[in-house]
This record gives sequence, structure tokens and C-alpha cells, in this order.
Amino acid sequence: MAASAASRRAFVCPYHSSAYGLDGALRGRPHGEDFPHAPARDCALARVPTAEALGLVWAIPRVVKEGEDPQLDLTAWLGRFGADLRHWGYDGWVPVHQREFANAANWKIPFEGNLETYHFQYAHRNTIAGLFYDNLLMADHDRQHQRIFLPKRSIEILRERPPGEWPVGSHANIIYFFFPGTLILHEGDHANAFTVLPEAVDKSRVLATTLVPEMPKTEKSINYWKKNVESFWGALDEDFALGVSAQSTFASGANRVLHFGATEWCAAKFHEDVEGMIR
Ligand SMILES: [Fe+2]
Repeated sequence: MAASAASRRAFVCPYHSSAYGLDGALRGRPHGEDFPHAPARDCALARVPTAEALGLVWAIPRVVKEGEDPQLDLTAWLGRFGADLRHWGYDGWVPVHQREFANAANWKIPFEGNLETYHFQYAHRNTIAGLFYDNLLMADHDRQHQRIFLPKRSIEILRERPPGEWPVGSHANIIYFFFPGTLILHEGDHANAFTVLPEAVDKSRVLATTLVPEMPKTEKSINYWKKNVESFWGALDEDFALGVSAQSTFASGANRVLHFGATEWCAAKFHEDVEGMIR
């Protein structure tokens, strides 16, 4: 949730300036007397299932059903991977940077590229490739959610220290993928999260947030996070550009089948889980 949204008292539609309270009730509209046939009680915003957890607002983009509790039970849904992130204090983390953009590719493509390291040495040869081992990851899952550990080459120095002193995140990236469309990259002292929303077969929208334990107050810490955000998006923009290119190739119809390699099994599992939901 953006700080500006957190302190907002009302939602105002940019089209005709109708104003809604935080509960979704219509508070007012210009020339309200023009709507004797549509009283305010019939013109509230649609309610969607929501909840707040891990520093983010979670929502299912559909209208609450009759008699349904609009409050999502995220503790159950996020499971043991959510418990990991809570343990590190995520419930109190705040968004230091947010980004939203249109992605000219199917919503599943960004997750394929973030659930394997096979492409790192080639797609990211000029950015992060040197930090990571080639084609290496460890992964487990909880239902359709996935946790992937990507060791950095610097992890070798931990051999000198007892396992109880090994820091989480300093020498690895840890990806938490919460089905169906939210990915959190845990980097120890901060996290980069994004959700991809489908818009059409070949179009999606990306909502991204960088979460930190507290808002930076000094110029030094502001610059520190700025550099982190730039380095994250430097690599991710390479993935998104390749995804758009892949989408345009799919559209040609030339390839009827695509194959995942053995180390890309997390991406293959994601596809199987999506298929399982819509079967
Ligand atoms: Fe990538």
C-alpha cells in the first residue's frame, strides 16, 4: 500500500469526480440532483475480498459473493512461506518504491523467468550473471506456492562460519512465489515484490513494490535504497523485454510446443498448477 493511499480519506473518480468513502459508500457527486433514479445507496463501489499481510494489501479481483466474508484468511493461504516472511518482520515493512507498468505479454511469462536460473548466464550476462552460479537452485513448495533458494558465489565464505551464524539473504536470493500471481524476492534487509494481473492473452499489468523495514530518513539511506531498486530493475527489465519478445514469437504460431529443461521444473510446476485450477 502506498503511503499516500494509506492516508487518503476518500477515493475520487477522475472522470466525473464522484467521491467515495474508504468503506466504498458514495459520499457525493457533482450535480447530485441529476440522479433521482440512482440513490447513493445503490451506487457504492464494488467490494472485493481483501486483507493486509507482509507489508502488502492482497486482493482477489472479483466482486464479493452474497454472504461471503470479504476478509481473506491470509494466514492459512500464505502457509509456512508466509510464516517465514512474518518471522523476518514483513508485517511491519513499508513500501519505499512502487512501480506499475503495462506488459505486452501473457501474465504467466514473467513467472517462468523468475522460477529458474537457467537463463542467468545469458540473459543477464551484463548485469547479475557474475553474482550467481550457473543453473543452480534449491526449491520446495507448499501446495501451489514455491520457495526457491538461489545461492550467490559469495556464499563460499560461509564455510568458515558455523551454520548457526549464516545470515539469511546476504549470500543468496530467496524467491517466494505465492500462487497465482505474486512473487517476493527476499534479499535479506529488503524485498522486491511484484504481482502480474492478466488483461488479455498477450497483455498484463505489473504492480511492483520494494519493501524495507522502515522508511529511510537520511540522504545516505535514501540513496542506498535507490541503488538497490535500480539494480533490481536493471535485471528485471531484461526479463520483461525478453518476455515481450517471446510473446510476439508465440503469436506467429510457429512453435506448437515448448519444453522446460530439468532445472526449470519450478516453472513447469507453476504451469501444471495453473492448468489444475482451470481444468
Ligand atoms: Fe531473469
